Amino acid sequence: MLNNRKVKGLGVSVPTIYAEKVREILKNRSAIEPSLKPLRMGDKVVFPLKQNTPLLEGVVPPELGCELVWEEFQERRTTPRSIREALSGIISGELLEKLPSSYDVVGDIAVVHIPEGLESFGRQIGEAIIRVNPSVKVVLGEAGPVAGVYRTRRLVHLAGEARTFTIHKEHGCVFQVDLEKVYFNPRLAGERMRIAGLTRSDEVVADMFAGVGPFAVAIARHAGARVFASEINPDAYDLLVKNIQINKLAGRVVPLFGDCRATFSNNQISADRVVMNYPSDPLSFLDTAFKILRGRGVIHLYGFAEDTEEWRSKIVERVRELGASCDLVVKRLKPVSPSRNLVVADIGVRFS
Ligand SMILES: C[S@@+](CC[C@H](N)C(=O)[O-])C[C@H]1O[C@@H](n2cnc3c(N)ncnc32)[C@H](O)[C@@H]1O
Repeated sequence: MLNNRKVKGLGVSVPTIYAEKVREILKNRSAIEPSLKPLRMGDKVVFPLKQNTPLLEGVVPPELGCELVWEEFQERRTTPRSIREALSGIISGELLEKLPSSYDVVGDIAVVHIPEGLESFGRQIGEAIIRVNPSVKVVLGEAGPVAGVYRTRRLVHLAGEARTFTIHKEHGCVFQVDLEKVYFNPRLAGERMRIAGLTRSDEVVADMFAGVGPFAVAIARHAGARVFASEINPDAYDLLVKNIQINKLAGRVVPLFGDCRATFSNNQISADRVVMNYPSDPLSFLDTAFKILRGRGVIHLYGFAEDTEEWRSKIVERVRELGASCDLVVKRLKPVSPSRNLVVADIGVRFS
């Protein structure tokens, strides 16, 4: 990395007692090389000089004991502000324009989408992210879409340590996550706080698709409500159990292993509020949510749709098919492709 590099060059050696005086003189003549660090050598300091500095005669008074020396200086740490800035000397032209301008950070792992045409620069992009954001210790590249029932995606290692496990902190909650084995989206942090803010402490909440527990833990911790959290992926379930422990929420968040279509009914659980974060196929599970609510309550239903109107009409139709009526507030959360958005509906359901 740039900050470990040493560079040989010309410098002015000066007794420490005169160092400040000589620094001022050299600075006024713009003679100090700013990219290199001054050296301390016993009772002397050596200031690195710019390559084109004229010789010292007449620059510093001889009585200050200055000498010209050839030394090895350490480069100053330079933190680029963006991937583009970090790679501007390495990648050129059109490709530079295509470089990603954002990436997700989960704990100390960055996950980045490598745009088409830049596949062979994966390692450089990964190293650039670590230089831009030194708290990132691992960079993974997305190698496919989020897919399957477990909603995981294939990832490739680009730079830094070779691991996919990390610890993510979010609004006072802590989550153990293994990005290769489970779904986790740090961009939903605000949404989790919003749902926690809507929940009263005397409510019972059902998190039908809990993953490693970010909604369940945030709701229990910030609202004080009791949450039943169901998860079908064994790896995600194990981490859910750990996350309940490390957030000291045993008994307040109850983990249920298995398909939410069975776990809630098998345990005869009913709830006032249901969280359904399974946007790839949420409407197939609406009947299960209705059974959990038993009468009336609120559902937070996440889905993918072109716009909020499309999402609203799909829900109204399905609710009608299930013989209920509802009030709806629909919100667009973030784009997931040029024509698709992640949307959420807060549904107040009544059964006649
Ligand atoms: C989109 S992820 C959301 C996870 C979590 N709520 C979050 O925000 O990180 C959906 C989760 O539901 C789980 N899942 C899928 N089908 C399920 C089912 N029938 N019952 C319980 N969990 C299921 C997946 O394994 C996955 O962890």
